[in-house]
Amino acid sequence: MNQEQLIPYKNINTTWNEETSLLQLSLPWISLKIKLDSTYKTPFNENGTLSHQILNGLAKFPLTRVAPRNNFSIENKLYVEKTSLNNLAPNEIFKKLDINYQLQNNTWIWDHISILESIKINEDSYDPLSLYGLLTEMRLFEEHEANLSLNFFKKLNELLEINDETFIKAISFILEQTYYITNHCIESLMPAISSYLPASNLVSDFIKEEMNHDRLVLKSLKVLSPSSPRIEKVTVETKTLMSLLKKSAESYFLGFSCIIGSFEGIGYSAEDPLAVLLKKSSKPEAAIGIQQHYMINKNGNHSAVGEGFIRTLPAIDKNTALNAIYLTELITRVRISFSKKIYEAVQNELN
Ligand SMILES: [Fe+2]
Repeated sequence: MNQEQLIPYKNINTTWNEETSLLQLSLPWISLKIKLDSTYKTPFNENGTLSHQILNGLAKFPLTRVAPRNNFSIENKLYVEKTSLNNLAPNEIFKKLDINYQLQNNTWIWDHISILESIKINEDSYDPLSLYGLLTEMRLFEEHEANLSLNFFKKLNELLEINDETFIKAISFILEQTYYITNHCIESLMPAISSYLPASNLVSDFIKEEMNHDRLVLKSLKVLSPSSPRIEKVTVETKTLMSLLKKSAESYFLGFSCIIGSFEGIGYSAEDPLAVLLKKSSKPEAAIGIQQHYMINKNGNHSAVGEGFIRTLPAIDKNTALNAIYLTELITRVRISFSKKIYEAVQNELN
């Protein structure tokens, strides 16, 4: 296998203490403390960037992406998706995919041409792994920028302190969404088994790992709200996220692999952040189910599962790359609307 060249994500906050050999790296979604061998003089190159060796050690974290692999080919094949989403506005894609959803802003936001340029191998081929890394970076940045996740937990904390009953209501609303997602997960993933055969076994193994996770979420939800699940509490954004996942699994294997991680959360803390809050509430036993679910995702490194799927692919053509770009931008934008809706629901409970 070629040695892969890793590119760090933009704006990583880096602190290096030479005396203690402690390197700290952080982005809004992850923060790492790495104790380096005391023989390390510096983790940086002369130009101030993180050294190759350090980056290689970070490959499994959402902090780096793979540069286009110039000599990359699997038997000189090219993966070409038959259907195309090209030249369609965002809402036309929803229509084409039979999804009843409209974004308020019906124009594309991401710079698709420059994304293509940065993952190009040659005139006709593009690197799917490099695309995956770049799209994951963009998705994480946008979600975290728009999504106030810090503020969000602060608000939930405030709610918990002010009024336990409304806090429980807000968490129930959030878990109604999680329940819908986990309950529709298997049927949305299944089509991917036959959409790209070389990855079938990997996809089937992942589906097995996802089975019955809805029961864990329901275990928590029932403690908070015995009459749940209540389908009327599920937002149109939640339903749209699952429809997008299913449609991608059916016909856009690369796009599917690029977006699947967004359903898995990123778990580098010891406990599910919601479970931490629930433990301080009047219903601490509600933390158990979601904490178990969190640990399965964390231990299985589910947020990076798409990378494994993509490693089975050869180079891709431009149309396939574009399909994945469109689908990832759409899922990111729907997810941001989804977070805003949940945030508003929490905010309403506070007012
Ligand atoms: Fe999972």
